[in-house]
Amino acid sequence: MTTVIDTLGRPLRDLRVSVTDRCNFRCAYCMPKEAFPKDFAFMARERLLRFGEITSIVKAAVPLGLRKVRLTGGEPLLRKELEWLVKGLREIPEIEDIALTTNGSSLAKKAKVLAEAGLNRVTVSLDSLDDATFRAMNDVEFPVARVLEGIDAAVAAGLTPVKINMVVKRGVNDTHVVELARRFRDQPVIVRFIEFMDVGTKNGWRLEDVVPAAEVLQRLAAEFPLEPLPPKHAGETALRYRHADGRGEVGFIASVTKPFCGACNRARLSADGQLYTCLFATAGHDLRRLLREEDADEARLGEALAAIWRGRDDRYSELRSDDTKDLPKVEMSYIGG
Ligand code: GTP
Ligand code: 5AD
Ligand code: SF4
Ligand code: SF4
Repeated sequence: MTTVIDTLGRPLRDLRVSVTDRCNFRCAYCMPKEAFPKDFAFMARERLLRFGEITSIVKAAVPLGLRKVRLTGGEPLLRKELEWLVKGLREIPEIEDIALTTNGSSLAKKAKVLAEAGLNRVTVSLDSLDDATFRAMNDVEFPVARVLEGIDAAVAAGLTPVKINMVVKRGVNDTHVVELARRFRDQPVIVRFIEFMDVGTKNGWRLEDVVPAAEVLQRLAAEFPLEPLPPKHAGETALRYRHADGRGEVGFIASVTKPFCGACNRARLSADGQLYTCLFATAGHDLRRLLREEDADEARLGEALAAIWRGRDDRYSELRSDDTKDLPKVEMSYIGG
């Protein structure tokens, strides 16, 4: 099997694996309480892919070009003994980068064991340093101090550069961007400002709530001079900038105002084994059935993956329009961030 490209010439480099659809937070832009109440029917355990099944899919995708795996959720650290999955992935020599996206709530406890298992780095969601705002945004009264402890633990464990994801919502946390950028300047931490996206159908997305990256950049530039940096690799989500004095880097993920589908090399695997070729997809490809009912081996999985990728033509963020607004898109907590 040789490397594959899709109908728009894009390779498959990055697989984002959701290991659970559950989360202990209820951020309104992702899992609003009204849509995800306490008795919400999350996936039954037997539906979840086992770690061995995930590893088989990753191994099957390596010959096609896969080099990077990101573990996400929901909140991935709610999955027990996630370090065992990291260990399994670490044994695949071609996988150069294993990262984790987490809300940081249990990172203080888990950072060391994850690093020892072979995790390379973490990305922590952190929407404000102000405790009241943070509690309101996670909507479960989770204190910001514990996430900050988690970030410290990740830095201490060498899971660097740690990235911070801040989703900026107008009138909610847009005045907090400078404080966040300043706080992490002298640490191996990159803060990234994310435009609120119309992912899923439940987060009440409105264009008025989006703060364009250019506006955040302006706010920051009024405080400290910033210089653009070239992309580190093709298909990067963030526009990178460095502080002119050399102390630190920030990024902007402008998927609404500056979509980056052109070089998108990411596939997503839901916790129940559906492969999605776009964050905004409405349907996935059932790999779990192949694994469980057809007992597919890696070669067979590889062929299935190659066929799916060759047929891919997704570029939702570039097309975003009224026609796509009411599509039955899947939720981010299900498909992974
Ligand atoms: P690196 O591996 O460090 O380059 O991180 P990354 O930017 O690939 O991943 P991360 O999970 O940190 O992504 C940050 C945020 O960017 C996500 O939470 C999403 O909000 C957004 N994002 C990531 N990938 C995509 C994508 O393919 N399309 C769109 N529209 N947004 C994305
Ligand atoms: N828009 C932008 N980013 C989002 N995330 C979740 N929902 C949205 C949304 N509607 C991102 C957050 C979090 C990651 C898991 O997904 O940044 O860090
Ligand atoms: Fe949970 Fe992350 Fe979604 Fe917030 S953004 S509800 S922390 S999965
Ligand atoms: Fe990739 Fe779809 Fe995001 Fe575009 S919208 S960057 S194709 S995942």
